Amino acid sequence: MNADYHLFINQVKRKTGIDLALYKEAQMKRRLESLRDKRGFGSFELYYQAMSKDQSLFNEFLERMTINVSEFYRNKKRWEVLEEKILPRLLKENTRLKLWSAACSTGEEPYTLAMVMASFMPLSHISILATDLDKEILKRAKIGLYTDRSLKEVPKDVLSSHFMKEPMGYKVVDEVKRTVNFKHQNLLSDTFASQYDLIICRNVMIYFTEEAKHELYQKFSNALRPGGVLFVGSTEQIFHAEKYGFETEDTFFYKKKEETSS
Ligand SMILES: C[S@@+](CC[C@H](N)C(=O)[O-])C[C@H]1O[C@@H](n2cnc3c(N)ncnc32)[C@H](O)[C@@H]1O
Repeated sequence: MNADYHLFINQVKRKTGIDLALYKEAQMKRRLESLRDKRGFGSFELYYQAMSKDQSLFNEFLERMTINVSEFYRNKKRWEVLEEKILPRLLKENTRLKLWSAACSTGEEPYTLAMVMASFMPLSHISILATDLDKEILKRAKIGLYTDRSLKEVPKDVLSSHFMKEPMGYKVVDEVKRTVNFKHQNLLSDTFASQYDLIICRNVMIYFTEEAKHELYQKFSNALRPGGVLFVGSTEQIFHAEKYGFETEDTFFYKKKEETSS
């Protein structure tokens, strides 16, 4: 790693607690370099100096590093598996589920979960924790206003029952919004609660180094109850899932093994 980028990583970590060294280097460096160059700074050192005095430059940097693209029912087939196979089993074991959408971005994922859960119970019985590193994105998630780009997979009946048409797009109705509790959290440094039935963590682990992923899988495993499920993104298969106490329940769904008495 070059010294300029290395120093930058340390400075950002000191200022924000975000450790860029836990993100794949080539990819992250390229993203940040292109933004730095666009703003006319010849080195990361100069870029950091400017950023530490100018909040808007700093916010722009955070926005670039977090990569917030999301959509409702992303990889729709997987949500069908969740609805038809995973949730019915979980609901047989527990009537109230402890649910978490980790790295929820602009909110499409936890709201999709609420809409899927609504086919099993009234919305007032549903409670979902949704967390992300990016505080700005969480503000947008709470507003819940979306354009066509993120809505293309939403079934027509869901669109008419859970959204309101607005001049700027579609807004998630308040009854759905009330099911989701948005919170700021860094998956790589914060501690997790426990006894979750379902954790959804999709399309963020691809950005992490192998070591960071390894720790995170273990933290997720510890946070699930036995029989609970980790739902990952469609490029994020876990190699040697059994190392973390998981077995594959379906593609991209990992079930924490039940404790066996020995
Ligand atoms: C590509 S989005 C994925 C959104 C959603 N899960 C999906 O699959 O559509 C990645 C999200 O991960 C968040 N993120 C990146 N690093 C994180 C970290 N260390 N802790 C928590 N969230 C993080 C970003 O802010 C961003 O909103």
